[in-house]
Amino acid sequence: MEIIEKIQNKSAKIGIIGLGYVGLPLGLEFAGKGFDVIGFDLDEKKIEFIGRGESYIKHIDSERIRKSVTDGKLLAVSDFSKISEMDAIIICVPTPLNEYREPDMSYVESTTKTITEYMRAGQLIVLESTTYPGTTEEILLPLFRNAKSAGDNGFEVGKDFYLAFSPEREDPNNEKYSTSTIPKVIGGVTANCLKAAITLYDQVIIKTVPVSSPKAAEATKLLENIYRSINIALVNELKMVFDRMEIDIWEVIAAASTKPFGFTAFYPGPGLGGHCIPIDPFYLTWKAREYEINTKFIELAGEINTHQPHYVVEKAMEVLNEYKLPLNGSRILILGASYKKDIDDTRESPSLKLIELFIERGARVDYTDPYIPSLPKTRKYNFAMKSIDLTTENIKNYDLLVLSTDHTNFDYKMIVHNAKAILDTRNAFAKNNLKSPTIFKA
Ligand SMILES: NC(=O)c1ccc[n+]([C@@H]2O[C@H](COP(=O)([O-])OP(=O)(O)OC[C@H]3O[C@@H](n4cnc5c(N)ncnc54)[C@H](O)[C@@H]3O)[C@@H](O)[C@H]2O)c1
Repeated sequence: MEIIEKIQNKSAKIGIIGLGYVGLPLGLEFAGKGFDVIGFDLDEKKIEFIGRGESYIKHIDSERIRKSVTDGKLLAVSDFSKISEMDAIIICVPTPLNEYREPDMSYVESTTKTITEYMRAGQLIVLESTTYPGTTEEILLPLFRNAKSAGDNGFEVGKDFYLAFSPEREDPNNEKYSTSTIPKVIGGVTANCLKAAITLYDQVIIKTVPVSSPKAAEATKLLENIYRSINIALVNELKMVFDRMEIDIWEVIAAASTKPFGFTAFYPGPGLGGHCIPIDPFYLTWKAREYEINTKFIELAGEINTHQPHYVVEKAMEVLNEYKLPLNGSRILILGASYKKDIDDTRESPSLKLIELFIERGARVDYTDPYIPSLPKTRKYNFAMKSIDLTTENIKNYDLLVLSTDHTNFDYKMIVHNAKAILDTRNAFAKNNLKSPTIFKA
């Protein structure tokens, strides 16, 4: 197969569609290994950033981008006609939920249609966006078969082009694992498709894991994220039960973690965040309906996890009550706006939900986050808020500090010394060996 030869002798040109948290690091891996990479995005700002050799994602070093660009190995464009020059095309566009909590496949669909305009025989196409089982073969395959250049007979998959699904397992800012060191599951439509996709990823990823079909690969990604969502829901539920019993869930998890088998620690928090865990399980829920199956476990976990910001607000009311203060009119500072520590991503962040709930109840709310200078407008929220400087003077202005994201570089000691009261949803103060009667947990 010509595509395999081209990949092996590194003459294959790699196109990455969607230069976000997934696409950019992946493109950099290929460029770093000597491949010519073209990144395609609709967002002109991202294209300009890359052209200048600058990063727009906190944990991705500008130097890596600059080097790839100056070496002539990475080019970012919005001109999709260059797709015809590519040998392998990897799709990394968003797969959110719409307002009815149904899969929003519009990004994948429009990308697929764009590819069909410029596709040519011999290309390998891989979908990486998280999606429901069946997407690659039900949505992408029929469109590619009838690509513009295929003529009346159409393209035959596995012969005229190659198609696979390979889920991304990126964990932003994980110091132990990055794109190249996380094993990659791959399912090809035919044996040739699988072979081509494995050859591609073997160039940059430590280990490839073949499965029998794209839908097995699509299901694998969903299993991983449903597993997390359900286990997080479980500890969130236990947190609420143990709290009533005056048992500290964090102490219990630490003790249970000493069991050398059969227990994996998951931690409670103010709610789920990020592009994956709050969203992906519902891709399966939606698809399962087609088979007349209700995914009760997924729904229950979703219910418990979405209740968590409400639980935090209830706890905040209890804490303020101890100080003889009503929530209405109290000044609250949310510590951390990103959905997890040390990153600059606010997608689905529970901090945003907390801000909304506190404002609805009449509290005067601000937030502080070293990585989020102002809150971006989202489909759901438009707060127009700027991060407050975390100074001793500023902290004293608030009746309650609610820690939502446990950023490493918060000065926890200074915070405890100056705050009137703190509600900690991440056990961050205890982890920093700080104790005070002014610290409460939620
Ligand atoms: N972020 C993660 O940690 C992560 C982890 C695993 C899987 N995923 C999955 O990977 C996929 C991408 O996620 P992400 O976090 O990189 O999203 P992102 O929003 O950071 O990036 C997506 C990029 O695609 C671009 N885009 C949108 N429509 C386009 C189009 N038609 N043509 C070209 N570019 C287009 C956007 O401008 C954006 O730059 C999603 O399916 C997500 O569920 C994400």
